[in-house]
Parts: sequence; C-alpha cells; structure tokens
Amino acid sequence: MSNTPSPEKSARHVAIVMDGNGRWATARGLERLKGHARGVDRVREIVGVAPDHDIKYLTIFAFSTENWKRSAREVTGLMSLFRRYIRKEAETMMRDNVRVRFVGDRSKLGKKLRELMIDLEKQTLNNSNLNLTVALNYGGRDEITRAVRRMGNAIKAGGLNPEDITEDTITSYLDTADIPDPDLVIRTSGENRTSNFLPWQAAYAEYVFTPTAWPDFTEPELAKTLESYRDRDRRFGASLSK
Ligand code: FPP
Repeated sequence: MSNTPSPEKSARHVAIVMDGNGRWATARGLERLKGHARGVDRVREIVGVAPDHDIKYLTIFAFSTENWKRSAREVTGLMSLFRRYIRKEAETMMRDNVRVRFVGDRSKLGKKLRELMIDLEKQTLNNSNLNLTVALNYGGRDEITRAVRRMGNAIKAGGLNPEDITEDTITSYLDTADIPDPDLVIRTSGENRTSNFLPWQAAYAEYVFTPTAWPDFTEPELAKTLESYRDRDRRFGASLSK
C-alpha cells in the first residue's frame, strides 16, 4: 500500500472549534478581545489555505448559544468583530470563489449583523472552490430543538407524516441541511470536549484535540493535524483488510 495519501483519504469537510483566544491573550497580558482579533487573522489564513489541502467544506464555531454568558464587553466586541469580518472579507470571498453560509439561531443577533450575513450568503451563493460555514449563535441541541419544532409544525399542517420520518428527514430540517457531514472535527487549546458542536452531523467524525491555541493555529498546524487524520484513516483501512 502506498504511503502517499490519496485525495479521497483527505478530509473533505473539516469542522473547527476555535478555542483558546482568551487564554492566549491573558497569557500575554492582553485583554481577551485582542485574542479574538488574532483569532480572526487565523480564520483568514485557514480559509485561504484550506483548498490547498483538498478541503471543500470548512465549518468554524464562532459563537455558541452559551457564549452570551460572557461579559457584555466581550460579547459586544465579538459581535463587532463579526460585522467587521463580513464587511471586509466579502471581496476576498468573491476573489477566492468561497461560498459562505451561516448556521445557528439568527433571531437573537443584531439587525445589522443579520443583514450582513444574508447579503454575504446571497453574494457568494454561486461560488464553489470552498464552502465556508460559520456557526454563529449555534448550539447543536438548540439546532435539533428548532428542527423538531419545524417538523411538528409540518406534521400539524399535514405536510409530513410521522411514519415517514427517517434520519434523512431529520438531516433535512437542520441548519446544515445541504452540507455533508464533517470528516474531521478539530478543537484547539487543549480542551477534550465537543461542546454541543454538530452533535448530529459529527456522529461518525474523527476528532483531533490539539493543545495549540487558536491564535497560533497556522497552516503548518493544520497540515500536521490533517496528516494525523490520514494516518488514522490508513490504520482503519489496514485493520479492515485483515
Ligand atoms: C473561543 O476562545 C473563541 C470564541 C468564543 C470566539 C471565536 C471567534 C473568533 C476566532 C473570532 C473570529 C471569527 C470569525 C468568524 C470572524 P475563548 O474565548 O473561549 O478562549 P478561552 O477558552 O481561552 O477563554
């Protein structure tokens, strides 16, 4: 068996829990928002190089349904970072042929941010080099709850028969309906938890937990992580063929 990984063995969909911005900043005597700003630099870098690593889908956890519990200053700062990122990146997304989608409960986000999100989704709708999904006010249980609510309404309206509900039906009601399941979930900064990120979609995903904080997760770190994913995949193949 060749040791060169075939493109099929590379992770087509990579999902990332971008953890450790706060600790990265605090360790340097900086305020937490400086860590998030550095985190945005890494988002730019990883989005830019993802296609070079055969990644077709990249999903990033930007803000969880639990993150509202942070200080008002941090929440306001993050929301302002998201607005600025969307405004500034639209041009790059068009140049690099990146389609952007957002998942999560938008109803609790500010009006301006929601408008920017819709505009960027519309503008990049026909791009195809990379599918970037940003999870914003996202929680896996919340996503499933909202899906079940909509399914309940569809049943009530006569458009859905409970007997016909399959796993595919449930998948089709999630925010990620038209996005394939992740092959690999990466969590940075040393926490070994999944934290309500894509619980339905990542049921068969590989997980890599790296001690590197998100602001330090540069392209070489991504390359190393993808290599460890391919190694696992190779072992899996070997044990099957015994
Ligand atoms: C986790 O670090 C990070 C977040 C809650 C925010 C993630 C946001 C970014 C990387 C900003 C850019 C995102 C986009 C889409 C432009 P933490 O604050 O939980 O770190 P800690 O665990 O060290 O406190």
